Amino acid sequence: MDAMTFILFGSTGDLAKRKIFPALFNLYLEGKLPRSFSLIGLGRKPYTDAEFKTYVELSLQTFSRSRPNELLMQEFLRFFRYQDIDVTKKEGFRELLNIVLEQEKELDIPENRMFYLSVAPEFFQTIAANIKESGLATAIGWKRLIIEKPFGKDLISARELNDKLVQTFEENEIYRIDHYLGKPMVQNLETLVSDNPILKALWNNRYIANVQITAAETVGVEDRAGYYDKAGAIRDMFQNHMLQLLMMIAIHQMAHSPDIPIGTRKSHILKSLRPLSKENAALDVVRGQYEAGEIGGNAVAGYREEHGVGATSMADTFVAARLWIDDPHWSGVPFYIRTGKRMREKSTRIVVEFKDPQQHASSSRKRTTSPNLLTIQINPDEKITLQLNGKNVLKSGETKPVYMDFSQSSVHMPEAYELLIYDALRGDDTFFARWEETESAWEWVEPLLEAFEENVLPLELYPSGSYGPETSCRLLSEQGFHWWHDEQEEKEQRRLLVI
Ligand code: BG6
Repeated sequence: MDAMTFILFGSTGDLAKRKIFPALFNLYLEGKLPRSFSLIGLGRKPYTDAEFKTYVELSLQTFSRSRPNELLMQEFLRFFRYQDIDVTKKEGFRELLNIVLEQEKELDIPENRMFYLSVAPEFFQTIAANIKESGLATAIGWKRLIIEKPFGKDLISARELNDKLVQTFEENEIYRIDHYLGKPMVQNLETLVSDNPILKALWNNRYIANVQITAAETVGVEDRAGYYDKAGAIRDMFQNHMLQLLMMIAIHQMAHSPDIPIGTRKSHILKSLRPLSKENAALDVVRGQYEAGEIGGNAVAGYREEHGVGATSMADTFVAARLWIDDPHWSGVPFYIRTGKRMREKSTRIVVEFKDPQQHASSSRKRTTSPNLLTIQINPDEKITLQLNGKNVLKSGETKPVYMDFSQSSVHMPEAYELLIYDALRGDDTFFARWEETESAWEWVEPLLEAFEENVLPLELYPSGSYGPETSCRLLSEQGFHWWHDEQEEKEQRRLLVI
């Protein structure tokens, strides 16, 4: 890997502390960072280099998945420097350039520069412009930009931001982070289908009845009301993470051109999504907000009682939608997506429900068995389960569902940020959101933003600790389906099962 300088804006922020430093440290331990590597932390706090290193040490002690050994930690921190900066002022960037050049010279590092923006989105454009203005971007080696979400708050602002960024960085130098794309199981999705002929053969509308994508969280808005109340679940989770999961599960090898890059195939999915209109959004979308309730035996407050939230807030903390991909491969297969806060359990999963082609051929034959289900659990555990039908010999010989599990959870599993930062350092953008995808995602979501804004569809209240508004079941029942069980119910089902 090329020697490089890692320039981290927002180095005293929460994300750096919890995710970025631990990820870099674990990459270092695994020999996945270049041998010559310098890190320049930037922030508003007036730290000295020594204070900054102590801050990073504390972050590693608290958040690193591998226990930090004192010696290795000191070795890792050797080339860390800190500069306080007001990113709106040009002078700070000129000083930064001097530090970067100094470090490059001293450590014999070629001019390869990784800029990481872990700052509030209102600073993205200013920082990019100042990087250009100061000469930091005219390096002889490579330059890359890692940028955190949110990438815009709607289509117009996302385009505006992108137009500004591309004045300093080429599209292939911009790495837009969607941390869901860094989850090992999400990275596994394409291989799971394309390298298993048994699934590949069934991966189309002939054999798949519907696909259900859920990202349920038990946490509420926490201390982020200032941001979340404006964003809602639609911007916070749906436009990015949920649509990325949809693309990752629905991509397929396009006929005659198996070598088409993953990004192009993903964009094809979004471009084939049937558009929704603002006026008819309520037919396919349910939005909700949590009320007070109970989670894991503890009483929790409703969204409108949360700190920083107004008593009449109309922010969505839950969104469910039915989507159709109008291409020959998927036409007729509904994709159901739901995401919510303060739900009954933390679970990110994709359930693929298979058809019984014979049953579908003859509507008079009543279904006597459960459908085959492929459940891909992404979080908190990583697991793939196939639900089959088997004979219960100990009971009356009736047919009962049986399960085949494959689990890849392990303490040694890398964190999403490790995988993503490693890829960006190698120049591999497979698991980053390209502009084409980001733009198409905003385009699809735009009528919903307007419908939410203008209250064209009702805001349904749901008790904390539930599965969200009951009306989200209608999206499925209209095609004769229902949401598949969450983990707890499955466990119970298995407990009752004697084979
Ligand atoms: C973030 C959202 O992007 O993803 C949060 O801003 C959300 O609101 C989080 O809680 C969920 O991520 P994960 O990895 O815990 O599913």
